Amino acid sequence: MTTQQERPTQAPAASPTMEELAKAVDDAATAVAALPAESRTVAEGLREALDALNKAALTAIVRRLRDDNSTREALFELVDDPVVHLAMMVHGLLRPDPLTAARQALTAVEPMIAAHGGSAEVVRVDDRIAYIRLGGSCNGCSMTDQTLRTTVSEAIVSAVPAIDAVELDTAPAPTSSAAFIPLGEISVRTAESGWVDAGAVAEIPRGELVVRSLTDEHGESAEVIIVNIGGTLHSYLNVCAHQGLPLDEALIDETEGTLTCPWHALCYDATDGECMSLPGAALEQRPLRQGG
Ligand code: FES
Repeated sequence: MTTQQERPTQAPAASPTMEELAKAVDDAATAVAALPAESRTVAEGLREALDALNKAALTAIVRRLRDDNSTREALFELVDDPVVHLAMMVHGLLRPDPLTAARQALTAVEPMIAAHGGSAEVVRVDDRIAYIRLGGSCNGCSMTDQTLRTTVSEAIVSAVPAIDAVELDTAPAPTSSAAFIPLGEISVRTAESGWVDAGAVAEIPRGELVVRSLTDEHGESAEVIIVNIGGTLHSYLNVCAHQGLPLDEALIDETEGTLTCPWHALCYDATDGECMSLPGAALEQRPLRQGG
């Protein structure tokens, strides 16, 4: 007569936390850096191959989930998971906002600046320009211009596509005043056919948005938002790329150049509509011209 043996039950292993995973990566990177050159080359080759494999797999998963209405919501939830978010950032599937990206780029040259007894900080990004505050021996020394142009500027502009130039932060921080907005009329194109008057530029202070319901002479209509970032206007359909909800109450961060949907907090680059929280999603831009 046989008796059935009971298997001891084992509690499932807990998933490592993000801190534990990050520490394991840091420890491995430190160990690899200490290897002899030949071994280090082999280890780095293995890491690059695994990175390429993981990026290809993540990209395929994101595309598949994003393109199907029934799974897109799951993708949004996944992106909120800290580990998934970090993995997507590491593999370039999520784009940091321009200010964060500029600060990351600056870290590459900070040791060189510190070696000269100076310091540099990106304080804001306005209208595709990164504004830098210099400290230590950089501040006011004859090397300031050279430091900016040849080191900091190159490091940031080459690394951040959303930034065209770097300047010293000598101006006061931007305010929501409309004093610097030239008076003029703006028009938004609602269809192939024509342009529709969308009001006066002065009605849209910097760092704010307005909603306009427009109808052209052919009866084509569109509801748009017009956003003022650093004195430049940008127009989008008033439809979030997530669930199609309106963006009337969206939060505008002029310093970072972002627009955040009030419903589920998707964050967009307010200057081109690209979603920074979800790869491939974007607001639908509407052509806009100033001056009637
Ligand atoms: S509707 Fe969900 S984030 Fe905008």
